[in-house]
Amino acid sequence: MLNIVLFGPPGSGKGTQSEKIIEKYNLVHISTGDLLREEVAAQTDLGKQAKEIMDKGELVPDKIVIGMIRKKLEEHQNGPGFIFDGFPRTVEQARALRKALTDYDERVSVMISLEVPREELVKRLLNRGKETGRSDDNLETINKRIDVYNKQTIPVTYYYDKMHKHAPVEGTGSIDKIFSRIEEVIGKVKEN
Ligand code: AP5
Repeated sequence: MLNIVLFGPPGSGKGTQSEKIIEKYNLVHISTGDLLREEVAAQTDLGKQAKEIMDKGELVPDKIVIGMIRKKLEEHQNGPGFIFDGFPRTVEQARALRKALTDYDERVSVMISLEVPREELVKRLLNRGKETGRSDDNLETINKRIDVYNKQTIPVTYYYDKMHKHAPVEGTGSIDKIFSRIEEVIGKVKEN
């Protein structure tokens, strides 16, 4: 299996690049943000609880997102592999992912982290906010999300660094150019 963690701050292009990766490598896409937004749209108890947290730009409790991931892994255990988009976001989640994959004799193949300067992230997300009305794409929440990323999520890169699985990729330029950088990383992983 090819199991990719696609990592990066809010607005770095995880969703955009996931689409291209799935198309080329036929992987199962697991986005915890999308899963949570589905719960919000369905107005489930979990969704109501999550919406409040997401609108503040904070992280939903580890226990909730880990439960969602385990369920998805179980549903697709015989597939070609997974792309994890927006997960793990804490070291606790990274440990839980390792454990869950180990239960299926699997592991993370590589963690690709998209590197984009803060001003560009803010610009992209404000644009999207105007176009789509996504409720956490306003300046106050965007800044909070980036701060939360820097404080709570960046430590995940050290976790994968230690395992020599962290591959930083420049996340600026055209979508196709960024994708070709990602293809290069995946190509090397597949060779090994
Ligand atoms: P989530 O949905 O994961 O949002 P995010 O990480 O903030 O990421 P975004 O979707 O905003 O950005 P992206 O990196 O996917 O970029 P995209 O491709 O969309 O999480 C939302 C919330 O859910 C969190 O704040 C948290 O509360 C909760 N949550 C989710 N997962 C969690 C977890 N594991 N644990 C706890 N809580 C969790 O691109 C952004 C924009 O830029 C788009 O408009 C796109 O068209 C544009 N764009 C993309 N690439 C380029 C480019 N190269 N040039 C110009 N524009 C570009």
